[in-house]
Amino acid sequence: MISFALIIPAAGSGSRSGRNIPKQYVELAGMPVLAHTLRAFAGLENCTEMIVAIDEGWRTTAERCALGLKDVRFIEGGAERQHSIARALADLSGAPDLVLVHDAARPCVSRGLIDRVMAAAERYGAAIPAMPLNETVKRVSAEGIILETIPRAELRAAQTPQAFRRELLVAAYRYADEHGIMATDDASLAEAYGAPVHVVEGEPDNIKITLPGDFKRAERKIAEIGRQPHDK
Ligand code: CTP
Ligand code: MG
Repeated sequence: MISFALIIPAAGSGSRSGRNIPKQYVELAGMPVLAHTLRAFAGLENCTEMIVAIDEGWRTTAERCALGLKDVRFIEGGAERQHSIARALADLSGAPDLVLVHDAARPCVSRGLIDRVMAAAERYGAAIPAMPLNETVKRVSAEGIILETIPRAELRAAQTPQAFRRELLVAAYRYADEHGIMATDDASLAEAYGAPVHVVEGEPDNIKITLPGDFKRAERKIAEIGRQPHDK
């Protein structure tokens, strides 16, 4: 069975969420978002470790989110998501076959999706889940004028977990560092490095909590999943 390490970027401040604490520590159905996210991956026997990148000021709260879970480590994140993940990658203690990166802010991810992404990464080297778009998409100038309408059929909205063969992700991060490439997801760095990234079907409920209204949506979904505070 292939092994994997999980990296959870959780060092952001959640500036768009409208809360006075980082969104990953907001309680949903009795436990913080990060606790839900960690539990979504708990008990996978081929997981060698989970590394969570955090803001040190939140260490106590963050560690409480992992109570009862095995092999979770917290490290200090960086100024941008990409820096947080680069630090976690540098801190891998073993040599797992795959590395998965999953946003702390996506607590509703299902086991089925995790399995699907991992199977594709094992086969193709790199894989991410993504959703087709329902709206017509425009590229717009700074002045608010439409520059073009982008054919929707080819577009996808990227989600996490994103999974990569470890050597590929490490090389892509090194390449990005050397070439000054910054991106909001990990697939972008693999793309820039020249690696083909396979896309699997995402899930509509795998939302990234971003705006104030997203907490309610996530809480409803979590109630549906029925994950319990003591469900270890
Ligand atoms: N993240 C991180 N380190 C950073 C910035 C973000 O680890 N320096 C993490 C966030 O904690 C989150 C994930 O990356 O789990 C996705 O980022 P995003 O949704 O943009 O979260 P924030 O940056 O916290 O929110 P905002 O952009 O609204 O401030
Ligand atoms: Mg952000």
